[in-house]
Amino acid sequence: MTGSTGGRLAGRSAVVTGAALGIGRATAELFAAEGARLVVTDIDAAALEVLRAALAADGAEVRAVVGDVSVPADARRMVEEAVAGYGGIDVLVANAGILPLQNVLDATPEDWDRVMAVDGRGMFLTCKYAIEHMAPVGRGSIVCLSSISGLAGQSGQAAYGPAKFVASGLTKHLAVEWAGSGIRVNAVAPGTIRTDRVRRLPQEPGGQEYLDAIVRQHPLGRLGEPEEVARAILFLASDEASFVTGVVLPVDGGYLAQ
Ligand SMILES: NC(=O)c1ccc[n+]([C@@H]2O[C@H](COP(=O)([O-])OP(=O)(O)OC[C@H]3O[C@@H](n4cnc5c(N)ncnc54)[C@H](O)[C@@H]3O)[C@@H](O)[C@H]2O)c1
Repeated sequence: MTGSTGGRLAGRSAVVTGAALGIGRATAELFAAEGARLVVTDIDAAALEVLRAALAADGAEVRAVVGDVSVPADARRMVEEAVAGYGGIDVLVANAGILPLQNVLDATPEDWDRVMAVDGRGMFLTCKYAIEHMAPVGRGSIVCLSSISGLAGQSGQAAYGPAKFVASGLTKHLAVEWAGSGIRVNAVAPGTIRTDRVRRLPQEPGGQEYLDAIVRQHPLGRLGEPEEVARAILFLASDEASFVTGVVLPVDGGYLAQ
């Protein structure tokens, strides 16, 4: 994928969190193909290095930061790497997340705190530190990862779903708060996507049943592919979406249309 040069992000400095796998990886690969200067970040050092090496071998300008988005100093380093290496940050994709499948009886207080820390606080922190640098320049584009479960109720997502409502809410509040500074903030709300995380579901209690049911609930009759979400993220991140802010865009095979 990284071979072509579409140029829709030519020369733009972009930070992608949770880039090692899944939607983050597909986004990093597409952004590289579109000419972005990348900072890829993840908590999984080994998988991140595999991605960094592959992108660099394809000729992309790429830097890697290992860290945990829920830790302020780590989140700050992810943004600062772009500022130090590329002179600023034009695009943030706040993608890093964990996706526990639990109902309210199974989810412990610790489970709630962990998903809120990574998916909620981590998104808040990376947006905060990115906006610190975007605001003085008067330009920037942020894309957050919400979900169908950040716009509607689902069973089995008692902790994860509310964390994704945080993503939808943060997107709208930051969009309004920073529009006057030239910063656009949008989100995508993917349906169920065939990422590394979702491929592991059949090994978990109730996971296969969840998957069988969820496929039937997507009118297009299949799971989405990470690349299909990455293309929507690219649109929102790029100047093609120059008059779009505060949107939570479903990429869901029609799930939310029902
Ligand atoms: N897969 C889906 O069906 C789906 C649907 C809707 C939304 N999403 C959202 O998309 C995003 C990516 O999901 P995915 O399915 O690609 O997941 P994934 O597990 O395949 O990839 C997530 C990546 O984030 C990294 N990560 C996890 N915790 C981190 C932390 N604390 N700090 C930094 N990096 C961390 C992981 O190491 C991994 O590389 C998440 O925000 C998720 O909520 C996914």
